[in-house]
Amino acid sequence: MTHRILILGGTTEARQLAGKLTRRADFSVTLSLAGRTESPVAQGVPVRVGGFGGADGMAAYLEQEHIQLLIDATHPYAARISANAAEAARQTGVPIFALRRPGWESVVGDRWTLVDSVAEAARALGTAPRRVFLAIGRQEADAFETAPQHRYLIRSVDPVEPKLAVPEAVYLLARGPFPEADERALLEKHGIDAVVSKNSGGEATYGKIAAARALGIEVIMVRRPPLPDVPSAETVDQLAAKIDHFFDPVAERGV
Ligand SMILES: NC(=O)c1ccc[n+]([C@@H]2O[C@H](COP(=O)([O-])OP(=O)(O)OC[C@H]3O[C@@H](n4cnc5c(N)ncnc54)[C@H](OP(=O)(O)O)[C@@H]3O)[C@@H](O)[C@H]2O)c1
Repeated sequence: MTHRILILGGTTEARQLAGKLTRRADFSVTLSLAGRTESPVAQGVPVRVGGFGGADGMAAYLEQEHIQLLIDATHPYAARISANAAEAARQTGVPIFALRRPGWESVVGDRWTLVDSVAEAARALGTAPRRVFLAIGRQEADAFETAPQHRYLIRSVDPVEPKLAVPEAVYLLARGPFPEADERALLEKHGIDAVVSKNSGGEATYGKIAAARALGIEVIMVRRPPLPDVPSAETVDQLAAKIDHFFDPVAERGV
């Protein structure tokens, strides 16, 4: 019997999880992407692209496609899709698991200023002109137009369009992972004195945090949004094991 699984993705972990699950011949895995990235990396499994039309739309999709397990492996700041997933699972009775990568914790030497939103991060930079590294992706970069006195270095996977209405901004296109040594060189080259970051967790984008610590640079850290409370695992391997177990409970193996 084939088990139909829908993974809500857009993250490296979602792609890795899909890769692991497709090794099982009895799993039929589809990965769902929002369609924000112009040239997403190859995912290695069947992909559907674009919004569902809210929780109701996702619920309809789950029923239409006879999905038996929904996996929320979206980015921790993609709060709307996670809320929709929990609601669609509730409406349809389809079980849901989430991949919830733990956030970073500050350690001795870190100079973090915690804020609740990107707009608040822009205010937290203060009035005096600074050299700011924006590493929050392109979607909310325009929030910094409210603080045009700073000089910005803005890194994103896709180009920021339109460009920010600020006098001084340098744009950098790059896709992680970003090792600490490279991040340190980048911060030094641009004379950065503040880094704005989301608390993504994981290794791939931690380099800038470690580099800022080493250089004594302030990090304005945007806190994670609240996410729905659904059964979850912290790593791809843990979640893959949970999914295996879900479809093959020990009692049914008939050893
Ligand atoms: N790799 C990264 O570093 C990174 C960083 C940020 C975001 N992301 C990914 O980019 C996507 C969009 O983020 P966002 O900030 O726009 O999220 P969001 O605010 O939570 O979602 C906005 C809307 O986009 C649609 N959507 C989001 N993720 C989707 C998915 N996987 N499949 C189908 N539709 C999806 C949904 O539309 P409908 O309501 O119409 O269904 C959702 O309501 C997420 O999947 C997230 O995981 C990745």
